[in-house]
This record gives sequence, C-alpha cells and structure tokens, in this order.
Amino acid sequence: MSVRDRRVQYETAGLERSDLNADPIAQWHAWYEQAASAGVAEPNAMTVSTIDQDGAPDSRVVLARAVDAGGFVFYTNYDSVKSRQLLLAPIASAVFAWLDLHRQVRLRGTVRRVADKDSDEYFASRPRESQIGAWASPQSQPIADRAFIEERMVEFGAKFENREVPRPPNWGGWCLSPHTIEFWQGRSSRLHDRFVYSLAANTATWQIQRLAP
Ligand SMILES: Cc1cc2nc3c(=O)[nH]c(=O)nc-3n(C[C@H](O)[C@H](O)[C@H](O)COP(=O)(O)O)c2cc1C
Repeated sequence: MSVRDRRVQYETAGLERSDLNADPIAQWHAWYEQAASAGVAEPNAMTVSTIDQDGAPDSRVVLARAVDAGGFVFYTNYDSVKSRQLLLAPIASAVFAWLDLHRQVRLRGTVRRVADKDSDEYFASRPRESQIGAWASPQSQPIADRAFIEERMVEFGAKFENREVPRPPNWGGWCLSPHTIEFWQGRSSRLHDRFVYSLAANTATWQIQRLAP
C-alpha cells in the first residue's frame, strides 16, 4: 500500500484532563510502563533534536537512561556531532513515539552535562563490549571502513584486558530538563487528545492546557 493511502484508525479510550497526574514526570513514567507492558520495542528510545551552528535542526534516536525531576538523561560521545551542537546551543527537543499505543510525548527544554560521577556510575553498569566500543568509536567522524572499528575494538580489548574498563573522558551523559511536555493520544477521525504541561515562568509549577489536535 502506498504511503499516501495508508491510514490507521486510532480507536483508543482517549485521554481526559482527569486522567493526568499533576506531575508530568509521573505521567511519563505511567505511560512508559504501559508502553513497556504492551511490548513496544525500546520504549525508552527518544528522537532528540539539536540545532547546528547555522540554526538548522538535526535529529537522531538515543535511549533515555534516567528520567526524574531533573530531566531526561541520555549517554553519548562528547565529541559527537550532537554533543558539539549542544555545547554551542544547550537546548533540545525530544519525542517518544509509542506508536503501538497511538501515543507520543514531546519535550522541549535546556540541556546540561550530567555530573561525571553519574556518567561513571552508568558507564560501569554497561556490558564490557559496549564499554570497549565507547573507546573504539570516534562517533560521528568519517572512517575508511568497518575494519577500522574492528581493529580498534581488538586494540582496546587488549589494553583493558583483565581490568575494569574506565569511562573514556569524552563519553558521558546529557540531561534534557523540559520546560514543556506534551502528551498526545490518538483518537478516531484525527480528533486526537493533546495536553501540554508548561512550567510557569520562574516557578516549579506545571500548568496543563488542552490543545486542539
Ligand atoms: C534505537 C537507537 C538507540 C540509540 N541510542 C543511542 C544512545 O543512547 N546514544 C548515542 O550516542 N547514540 C545512540 N544511537 C545512535 C544515534 O541515533 C546516532 O546515530 C549517534 O548518536 C550519532 O549521532 P550524531 O552524529 O548526531 O552525534 C541510537 C540509535 C538508535 C536507532
């Protein structure tokens, strides 16, 4: 079927104001748990958009590894394109698309580097191959071929043989602290439910508004 003619009817129970938790982070956790229970693939995957030095947006998928009142944390290479963009413009948006449940959650906010000790702690919890991969891959840089990475995996594997792999200094987390979080629930006839939480200026109080679909 062509992309033009593909149509899915979103027959869901919908989302009411009374369904929402006053705290958008608690609301996100409730939806995340439902997505995970429904078997959504990689329910912690979010598409993060940053802006480059010319103001042009750039998007890619990353995995959220912590979500709490501080924000949404993901880990990456600090020399990567996204990290260089975040150093220049520490703002981002992100989207979780839980399509099996006809849901999306959109975030917009500011981004800061997470504390080194949090990156150390998370790095230590990763599988050893991924730890070595963090050393081996100069993320976002052009490489001649796959052999380049495979040889570096062997090289760093030998370097750290029989000892713990330390966190590379150019690898760690970013935390997106949202000032706006929108929950979208697909409904029939494209009359979807949308609620946006916004932080009132200079406060920690979330205001909730329903938006037209
Ligand atoms: C499901 C999925 C999960 C991913 N998770 C991460 C991640 O947590 N961290 C990361 O650096 N890249 C992750 N990637 C790869 C990124 O999408 C991207 O290719 C990489 O970070 C380089 O992006 P950049 O050149 O814009 O910096 C993931 C990709 C997919 C499809």
